Amino acid sequence: MFFKKVTKNIETPRGKVIPFLNQKGGVGKTTMCFNSAHALAQKGKRVLCIDMDPQANLSLLFGVDTSETDQYSIHQLLVNSVRELKSLHSVCLVDDVIVEGEVDIIPAGQELSGFELTMAAISSPRQLILKKFLEKNDLLNRYDYILLDCPPTLGLLVVNAICAGHGVIVPFRPDDFSKKGLNHFYDMLEDVQDMGIVDVPEILAHVPNLVDNRRKVEEQDLHEIKEMIGERLGEDRVVNPFYNRAQLVKSQASKKSVFDYSSKEYSHLHQQFHEIADIIETWNAN
Ligand SMILES: Nc1ncnc2c1ncn2[C@@H]1O[C@H](COP(=O)(O)OP(=O)(O)OP(=O)(O)O)[C@@H](O)[C@H]1O
Ligand SMILES: [Mg+2]
Repeated sequence: MFFKKVTKNIETPRGKVIPFLNQKGGVGKTTMCFNSAHALAQKGKRVLCIDMDPQANLSLLFGVDTSETDQYSIHQLLVNSVRELKSLHSVCLVDDVIVEGEVDIIPAGQELSGFELTMAAISSPRQLILKKFLEKNDLLNRYDYILLDCPPTLGLLVVNAICAGHGVIVPFRPDDFSKKGLNHFYDMLEDVQDMGIVDVPEILAHVPNLVDNRRKVEEQDLHEIKEMIGERLGEDRVVNPFYNRAQLVKSQASKKSVFDYSSKEYSHLHQQFHEIADIIETWNAN
């Protein structure tokens, strides 16, 4: 009995994978991923970010020179992890690619836009490449949280993020198009579930972002979106909105998280990102 329990603990990795997802561009996926990662690190958690977007915006925020990533990027690591692609393998190992800091990062580069094409020829399950890569390299035992910044598409990179993920954060802008977009996204999660290869991750939070509180119409849209999410998913799980804040633009221009600033004008943003970290921590504890 005792022996059995110990075995289970060894086999079940502690780390959780959390993709930031929305197929719509410019809703704050990268911003939320970067600052939430730092909020978790502030709580003493070991955090790795993986840039799954060929735009490589997250890598740039971490100060990585993406013109030099080429062999040292998530794309190469994923290629290396597929046995069938031997002719494309390089000698680089995961530790050659991880850039260490308060939060560690595996950067992306433009070559990631060729992921779908590169993987088209393989016969092993293309949806599980990232999941298997994380498992093989024991990254779920090395980190408490692995946050994935995803591109604004519903392509193979995003399907890989979903299949590797345990809990999802969905930033969105409360406008006319969001309802349709979110429904499309939930349809896609159901499609992945129907494939029967993995259990799709739970949606931990929807984050209304870039909200302009002077616009009455946005308030109304947000209200309707909350209702729609509640009806579709059973509960809305929508956190307090992030307003359009010059402080976020300023911190990102300096490649810093909001926690690098201690002035009073940042305290509300600190609180909001701590709230997201708390949601993740509470979910993980249960
Ligand atoms: N609450 C906010 N206040 C002000 N600016 C913000 C806020 N959230 C995000 N931004 C800015 O909006 C732009 C888009 O944000 P971000 O890059 O995080 O979106 P994204 O969803 O990752 O975009 P993409 O889909 O292209 O990857 C960025 O310039 C970012 O600095
Ligand atoms: Mg982005």
